Amino acid sequence: MKRSVLASLTLIAGLGAGTALAEPQAEVLHWWTSGGEARAVQTLMDEFQSNGGKWVDMPVAGGGGDAAMQALRARVLSGNAPTAVQLKGPSIQEWYEEGVLADLSGVGKVEKWDLLLPAAIAGHMKCGGKYCAAPVNVHRVNWIWANTAVLARAGVSIPTSWDEFNTAAVKLKALGITPLAHGGQAWQDATVFESVVLGIGGPAFYRKALVDLDPAALNSATMVKVFDQMRTLRGFVDSNFSGREWNLATAMVINGEAAFQIMGDWAKGEFTAAGKTPGKDYQCNPTPGAGFLYNVDSFAMFKVSGADREAGQKLLAKLIVGENFQKTFNLAKGSIPARLGTPLGEFDYCARRSAYDMDVAASSGTLLPSYAHGMALRGQQAGAITDLVTQHFNSDMSSAQAAKSLADAVANSR
Ligand code: BGC
Repeated sequence: MKRSVLASLTLIAGLGAGTALAEPQAEVLHWWTSGGEARAVQTLMDEFQSNGGKWVDMPVAGGGGDAAMQALRARVLSGNAPTAVQLKGPSIQEWYEEGVLADLSGVGKVEKWDLLLPAAIAGHMKCGGKYCAAPVNVHRVNWIWANTAVLARAGVSIPTSWDEFNTAAVKLKALGITPLAHGGQAWQDATVFESVVLGIGGPAFYRKALVDLDPAALNSATMVKVFDQMRTLRGFVDSNFSGREWNLATAMVINGEAAFQIMGDWAKGEFTAAGKTPGKDYQCNPTPGAGFLYNVDSFAMFKVSGADREAGQKLLAKLIVGENFQKTFNLAKGSIPARLGTPLGEFDYCARRSAYDMDVAASSGTLLPSYAHGMALRGQQAGAITDLVTQHFNSDMSSAQAAKSLADAVANSR
């Protein structure tokens, strides 16, 4: 009896100490700093905090995440990795191979992620067969955003082919309206480029060129046409585009300074944050051509020491795939939930269209990973393509030379 009271007291004291020690904590590295992105990440912070977590924010500004990835590398090299990091696609595998990622298979098992995530998305979240990342959403990249009033004023409608786009843009330009809102950053050029590759070449060509890196597709007559279209698009951009962030380009469409933007649906987060209504103030349509380019944001957890931080990782991973977060986050972010069966009743028609098109694309083999947003290729190969695309966009390089140099750059990056 005496012994068992003592044992119970020891157990209670132990539990108390354990609980006090394991106050979930997470330092979260992300690049969600625009108006819409900040609203979205706030939903995660709120949910984490209301579940007892202590959130240490580590935002690194810069669309597309290039600066965030540099900051990550510096932190890991100094032996002080953040607890949770916005990371995606093959780069998750690259970090796993460096031996620095934590294993999330325990949470995945308890939360039944295998049943809640589509197989294609789950595949990106696993390292050596075990969960090492948790997905927050599915962004579609190949969208064209348009200001409804500007189009009406110019008497142009949403283009359904690249020729129609060019005709509309010439008309807009003649009226003194910037046809294409764009920022002069390499990843934004890459975002437009991959939509043009998909639109002009079609889904099978996209796969050959930007997923399989087939040299014959990279240096082909079709690729020459793609670069011709990129050169044409360059003529539709205003002269102040250099260095502009993507959300400032979106603001040009929101304010009616420009007619169109070709950008993933994180742009919708900006329209939402500005109180705009799709179908009324602005239009969302896929870029001309078939296919769906997906970009899944996810968080990977890095190996850390300390019960608080480990508890923080587990809590964060669990909440991320939870039904509530998948709804509130994606309503603000512009994307659609990654979790199967999340009700879309509160989502707008752009999101519902995205979900519908994604299903159709998945069953017709035209659901394709975005190379520009780190879903298709390893960093070095994607970087080689983007460097060439941006070099072409910002010079007078011929299309034939660009296609040849593209194939060479990819060959050298392998
Ligand atoms: C990310 C989005 C982000 C966008 C702009 C993309 O690569 O997947 O979540 O909003 O970059 O920063």
